[in-house]
Amino acid sequence: MEIPRVALGTYLMGDCDAPIMHALTKANYKHIDCAEFYQNEKEVGDALAKVFATGQVKREDIWITSKIWNHHHYKGDAGKYCRETLKKLQVDYLDLYLIHWPCTFAKTEDDNPMPRDSDGKIIHNYSVSVLDMWAEMEQLVEEGLVKHIGVSNFSIEMLERMRFDPRVKIQPYCVQVEYNLYMQQEALRMYCEFRGMYMEGYSPLGTSGWAKSGKPNLLADPVLNAVASELGKTPAQVELKFLLQISPKTVVLPKSTNPERIALNNSLDFELSDDQISRLKACERCQRYVDGHSMGFSFADDY
Ligand code: A2P
Repeated sequence: MEIPRVALGTYLMGDCDAPIMHALTKANYKHIDCAEFYQNEKEVGDALAKVFATGQVKREDIWITSKIWNHHHYKGDAGKYCRETLKKLQVDYLDLYLIHWPCTFAKTEDDNPMPRDSDGKIIHNYSVSVLDMWAEMEQLVEEGLVKHIGVSNFSIEMLERMRFDPRVKIQPYCVQVEYNLYMQQEALRMYCEFRGMYMEGYSPLGTSGWAKSGKPNLLADPVLNAVASELGKTPAQVELKFLLQISPKTVVLPKSTNPERIALNNSLDFELSDDQISRLKACERCQRYVDGHSMGFSFADDY
């Protein structure tokens, strides 16, 4: 199965049953994006079990992605935590398993995903390279627990180093990064196209956090709204279509719990003109809503 290009994001989803049921049985979604860090894989798994119980959707009809978190980069962790994720999601394989960030946090007795020192700084462990654990990710493919492996929040330089690292036998299927109107990822997008990799985009709608961050609301962008009224579509539809149309190797992961918006976000059967594409490309600000550095993550040279 080739990766379906629109996925339902599940971060901060709260009650998972209704949105997942709606997406998979009514709104034609074929892809659910999860992660250990979201701390709701059990709820997502319960929702998936209810969907499969309807008989309308089979496991093999959909694509399920999960990600391993930064404090689980130690020997034996990939197998252990992939199995935990499978158990929570109540499935026997993942279509895609990602390394969530290119950095390793300390492992604490209470298995804290965000271990902090007395100054509140995140405690990293620079002696563990995520490339050392890549071999364990490859092992999961061999064991049939996952179909594909990939990375998230990696730069072109990191991907290039993976390309030439003798430890790496299977190159990443994709890289998942922030991707939206204000963070268009042109260089990484071109790189992925060139290498035949997928670039998956999180926060494609600018996330719900924009108001708190003091950053502009992407969906209120005047150019986006002008194009949306020309086409008789919503700004979110135009934005998602733009992100998919400018490269054949992109995937978008919009999250919504609202049935109408879930359906709209996957109703993208229209085209933008070249002129509309150029105007939207000119909206680039190279601005992140989700910034690892401002969350206190640090990326060592040998990650
Ligand atoms: P809601 O769940 O109420 O629909 P992102 O995927 O970029 O993180 O954005 C998720 C946020 O965007 C959520 O707050 C979600 O709220 C909102 N959202 C999702 N789809 C749409 C849409 N079509 N129009 C406006 N807001 C949306």
